[in-house]
Amino acid sequence: MNRQAWSQAPTKWANLGVAEKALEDRKPVVAKTKSGFDVFITRLDGAIYAMGNTCTHAGGPLNEGTWVGRDRCEIQCPWHASRFCVKDAEVHGGPATFGEPAFEVRTAADGTIEVRARP
Ligand code: FES
Repeated sequence: MNRQAWSQAPTKWANLGVAEKALEDRKPVVAKTKSGFDVFITRLDGAIYAMGNTCTHAGGPLNEGTWVGRDRCEIQCPWHASRFCVKDAEVHGGPATFGEPAFEVRTAADGTIEVRARP
């Protein structure tokens, strides 16, 4: 089962209303798109990454997870310990078998974060 299978990730640029300068390294923020999709956003070694926040296994909140893995680039779900690479949103350890929706990220002219689903 994939808990994100029926979610509507934005395919056009969506402004999340989160200021880029407010993002701290490995301190994820969750923002909701106008369509109600929860996006996990974090700064990681200077770059900003975004993916779905609802664990594809059983819906755990990834923003409450723990940083693990080589270079601490994976977030471990707080419910059953699935691991997702924040850089590409792929599963690096089960029980989840599906990756998260992954997003491209850009900063708008006003300094806020915008995302859209990666093709
Ligand atoms: S809900 Fe995330 S691993 Fe089960």
